[in-house]
Amino acid sequence: MSEAIRDTLSRPLASLRLSVTDRCNLRCRYCMPEDDYVWLPRAAILTFEELERLVRIFAGLGVHKVRLTGGEPLLRHDLPTLVRLIAGHPEVTDLAMTTNGLLLAKHAADLRAAGLKRVTVSLDTLRPERMLAFAKSARHADVLEGIAAARAAGFATLKLNTVVIRGFNDDELADLIEFARSRDAEVRFIEYMDVGGATRWTMDQVVSQREILEVLGRRYGPIEPLRDDARAPAERFRLPDGATFGIIASTTAPFCRTCDRSRLTADGTWLLCLYAAQGVDLREPLRRGTTDDELATLIRDTWRGRVDRGAEQRLAVVDRGVLYPSASLRADPHREMHTRGG
Ligand code: GTP
Ligand code: 5AD
Ligand code: SF4
Repeated sequence: MSEAIRDTLSRPLASLRLSVTDRCNLRCRYCMPEDDYVWLPRAAILTFEELERLVRIFAGLGVHKVRLTGGEPLLRHDLPTLVRLIAGHPEVTDLAMTTNGLLLAKHAADLRAAGLKRVTVSLDTLRPERMLAFAKSARHADVLEGIAAARAAGFATLKLNTVVIRGFNDDELADLIEFARSRDAEVRFIEYMDVGGATRWTMDQVVSQREILEVLGRRYGPIEPLRDDARAPAERFRLPDGATFGIIASTTAPFCRTCDRSRLTADGTWLLCLYAAQGVDLREPLRRGTTDDELATLIRDTWRGRVDRGAEQRLAVVDRGVLYPSASLRADPHREMHTRGG
């Protein structure tokens, strides 16, 4: 393949997160704590054909990792069909999905058969009553069923994502490690981030990577860092008994310096950073009849000018508070985490 396209910090264009819908069937406090939301207009949502065309263009420019996200991606009707279309591009060697698991039991086998390689399920607590309070859902059993179905479907890896929040689930770290171990999965503890949508965020609720390691070290003994993939957001660790887990320290130790990812919202807005205030509208040229070459040029030139390192910049903010007040999120729902993909 030709040389990777690099941004101003020499980061390659390599990974694309496709948010296939902004809808979600949970209301997690760290992402959708409000009572109501402004949704993307239906007519603006890209069709599977449009998505596939963009993926083809991105793949031609060096993107080899694609991750389907949402909202909740399984709310998009007939997702296995999209998976099949994307999996048909051999340049895309890593095709994964991040889901809340509620509908996974129903679709896991079809997704695997369509060519999805890896699945990550969000699991913030093992206690149904906590999920009810935290995500306004009584369907904890469905998530566990989804995890079991994903395991049975034979995905290459199964990861569990846990956003750790002080006073909510910070007493469940070891339980989650044991649960993951029992399911042949790997848990990743994620620091609570002040992204758009996190309108209840405060620094004192963040449980840092350091603190997570201290707590687990006291319980299990010395923890060994594993240095495997410098580009992955998660740092991986091994316990003395062999169990592995990850920590994504986006709040206290961001990975901007090696960030090779961008994201596409369901309406075709291309974002160069999770924290970016604005994106590039790819839907308009796509629907106006722009050629593949012209779109490729737009994408290439935009990436070459990329300077974003949003999480690092947030780190420098003194008296850090919420990123956007709810009025600003309502005025532009593209700033919501559930629109740009978790
Ligand atoms: P793999 O490493 O390929 O397994 O995927 P991933 O870890 O990127 O995927 P996942 O969707 O599981 O992301 C895990 C978490 O990392 C997200 O929920 C976010 O908390 C954080 N994260 C993902 N993408 C970004 C990003 O672009 N910037 C920052 N700062 N954090 C991110
Ligand atoms: N902080 C950290 N992670 C978040 N996610 C959403 N909002 C936040 C936040 N404020 C991530 C979680 C969830 C995924 C869908 O998005 O990892 O599992
Ligand atoms: Fe990449 Fe932006 Fe996230 Fe930093 S904040 S890791 S630059 S997307």
